[in-house]
Parts: sequence; C-alpha cells; structure tokens
Amino acid sequence: MSKIISVHSFRGGTGKSNSTANLATLMAARGMRVGVIDTDIQSPGVHVLFRLEPDEMHHTLNDYLWGNCNIEQAAHDVTEKVGMPASSKGRVFLVPSSVKSRDIVRILREGYDMGLLNDGFQRLIELMKLDVLIIDTHPGVGEETLLSIAMSDAMLLILRPDQQDFQGTAVTVEVARQLDIPKMLLMVNKTPTSYDFKDVQKLVERSYDCTVAAVLPHSDEMMTLASSGVFVLRYPKHTITQSYNHVVDQLLS
Ligand SMILES: Nc1ncnc2c1ncn2[C@@H]1O[C@H](COP(=O)(O)OP(=O)(O)O)[C@@H](O)[C@H]1O
Ligand SMILES: [Mg+2]
Repeated sequence: MSKIISVHSFRGGTGKSNSTANLATLMAARGMRVGVIDTDIQSPGVHVLFRLEPDEMHHTLNDYLWGNCNIEQAAHDVTEKVGMPASSKGRVFLVPSSVKSRDIVRILREGYDMGLLNDGFQRLIELMKLDVLIIDTHPGVGEETLLSIAMSDAMLLILRPDQQDFQGTAVTVEVARQLDIPKMLLMVNKTPTSYDFKDVQKLVERSYDCTVAAVLPHSDEMMTLASSGVFVLRYPKHTITQSYNHVVDQLLS
C-alpha cells in the first residue's frame, strides 16, 4: 500500500488542494489515519478546506523547519472540524504552512533544510501511526517537488484539459519517471461537461503512457463551495465523489 502520496500539478489552480482534502477525507471515512502536509509554503491553502483558522494554528510547518517545534506538534487533528463524527475511527491530521506574510517571506528568503522536511515526513508517519501521508505541493518543478516525488510511493498528477497544462504535465511526468516513482496516476480536472470524458481519458493516457485515474468535470457546485469545505462530505452521492473514491481505490491498491 502507498504510504506517502504526493499531489502535484505543473500549473496552479488545477485542484491540488481540493483533491488532497477530498481524498484525505474519503480515506479517513474508510477508517484510515491520514496525515496531510501543506508543502506549498509560498501559497498555502489546504487548511482552508479543513476549516482551520490561522489563529488556531499553534505550530506550522515553518516552525518545524526553523527548529522551533517537533513535526508532531504542528499536526492538527481536523477530523471533527471538517465535519466527520468525533467517534470516527479514521482521523485526519493536518500540518499547515503559515499564512503570515513575514513567515512566508522569511522562509523564501532564508530557504530551509530539505533533509529536515524528509525526516519530518517519516517521523510524522511513525509517531502519529499514519496509514497514509498526503503531500499537497506547490505547482511546477521546484526543489520541494523533486524531494516529494523522490520520497513518495505514489504521485497523483492533476491537469486540466488545457494546452499549457498538457505541455507542462509532460515535464513533470518525465521528471517523475527519472526519479523512478513506484506509482504515477493522472487526474484530469475541470473538464468542460460538453466534452466526451472517455475521449479525454484515452487522449491523455495515450499522450503520457500513464493511467488516468479519473476525469472530473468543471463543476458549479465545486465553484460555489469555493474551498469553504470538503466536497465529498457536502455531496456524498455526487459523481465527483464517486470519482474521488475511485482515485482512492487506485492510489491504495
Ligand atoms: N472540478 C472543479 N470544478 C470547478 N472548480 C474547481 C474544481 N476543482 C477545483 N476547483 C476550484 O479551483 C480553484 C483552485 O483549486 P485548488 O484546489 O486550490 O487548486 P491548487 O491547489 O492546485 O492551486 C478553487 O477555487 C476550487 O474551488
Ligand atoms: Mg493548493
């Protein structure tokens, strides 16, 4: 089973953070202990989906990288916040990145120790007894991207049906292949509903010689939810929820 799963895209706004939150929630609903770590230090956001307010973040990934706390101290149990029952056996622990401007500027200016990030992943899995750790990343191919791909058992690479995404995704696919990632899945998001989804899937699979785990529509419900919560809990019977469940099956198989 994949322990560390990284969620990537070449360009921003593709749906990484929303997908991370939804996949993590579905896994927790299956009784798993799930860690989510926001390595998008320059533009953090996945905490918003879990309804964790900045003033509730007692420690962040930044604090850990500066040596001010242990990684487990930065892990927040967001299971109930997101709307799952307190009795739930599955849990979601979120390590958020700071949204304070001076924290972001400082970490960008000073950089940080990549080895520490790597150690943090392992320690978090061990100490929090995680079944799976999902890494939400910054778009493109940066240093953290390379590290998280190299560390992962599986990668979910998200793209929109857009020419810029198509070109950029080829770059990430190539990098992932060079780093020998054990499992790579593509997910097409924000597909216009007028498209033939089977055709889109075939075209993308053929272009990258890689499995497409799901083709998700551009959804008005998702836009209206506007990252204020987790879609699969709000719309448990929606086709998007079914698709996310299908992605979970493939990531965990
Ligand atoms: N399938 C979808 N249909 C419509 N809007 C979507 C869909 N997936 C994500 N979005 C919206 O796109 C925006 C960017 O999503 P986000 O998950 O933050 O992307 P990323 O983390 O890749 O930058 C958000 O406003 C989100 O609500
Ligand atoms: Mg994001």
